[in-house]
Amino acid sequence: MSNKQTSTVKTESNQINGTTGVLGLIGNPVQHTMSPFIHNNLAYRMQKDVIYVPFPVLDDLSAAIKGAYALGIQGLNITVPYKSEAIPFLNDIDETAKRIGAVNTLIRTEHGFKGYNTDAMGFRRELEAEQIRVADRHTIVLGAGGASAAIVFTLADMGARDIILANRSFPKADTLAERVNQTLKHPIVKPVLLSEVNENMPHDDYLVIQCTSVGLSPRVDDCVVTRDEFYKKVTTGVDLIYNPEQTTFMKGIIRNGGHAYNGMKMLIYQAVSAFELFCGLDEIPNTVAEEISELWKKEMKRNE
Ligand code: ATR
Repeated sequence: MSNKQTSTVKTESNQINGTTGVLGLIGNPVQHTMSPFIHNNLAYRMQKDVIYVPFPVLDDLSAAIKGAYALGIQGLNITVPYKSEAIPFLNDIDETAKRIGAVNTLIRTEHGFKGYNTDAMGFRRELEAEQIRVADRHTIVLGAGGASAAIVFTLADMGARDIILANRSFPKADTLAERVNQTLKHPIVKPVLLSEVNENMPHDDYLVIQCTSVGLSPRVDDCVVTRDEFYKKVTTGVDLIYNPEQTTFMKGIIRNGGHAYNGMKMLIYQAVSAFELFCGLDEIPNTVAEEISELWKKEMKRNE
């Protein structure tokens, strides 16, 4: 997404003027983010007098957040590597974000920013939009990195029967599982080594969420699990990767008769949820999210 296209979106709706609210994204790097595209399109469609810009923050996160507040910035998204690091610099934090231990959205309040986690909201909205049932299901989460905590807590909140947390290195899975189990006061998460996931699948109808970066373009043939023995037991899979549109993980599920979804909807819905918070809006219709999703797919094709 070039700057030219972002400003085109804004000038189609109305001009930037003295009352235009500023929204932005703090992270490092931020050059390849699609967030300005999504948010400026949302502003245009929802007729909101706001503009969304990227802020590369190389080191001093504290100064960046304080400075953003001093500049009157209305809201911010926070991305890698600052989602957890930002928490000490907030005035308040939403309960869900606190449990997850990461924020990706900051909303201006009277005395500072309040942090939220719309990754969790976006994931839940993707599951609901695709009518993927979680309640009472056996689930598996692949990966225990930054994205996984929001996914694991959301699955637990949505009534998953149990969650196998499989990671390449055991300690990370163990730490996250212990944190979730302690927070929920219920041993719902079982940490396992990724290489031993098959031996930990006694059922034959799993919902699996792929939360690692393996399979991301350009390394599209890579996949965290290769054995068909695994895929035979997966009835539904969601890959948080959205580029390529169909990952090798998704192909494995489809090849064995299951249903598979990519992370595009989650990404759009986390942005939609953030935009609702930024502008104090009630739920933005799914049709708007769908329109932006289609525009974005075209944008991705143009950038290929
Ligand atoms: P993110 O914030 O996107 O989750 P991350 O915190 O770096 O990124 O986590 C990446 C996840 O992908 C981790 O679970 C990582 O496993 P390790 O904890 O063992 O590093 C997993 N991952 C990355 N490359 C992998 C690979 N080649 N095979 C298996 N898992 C991999």
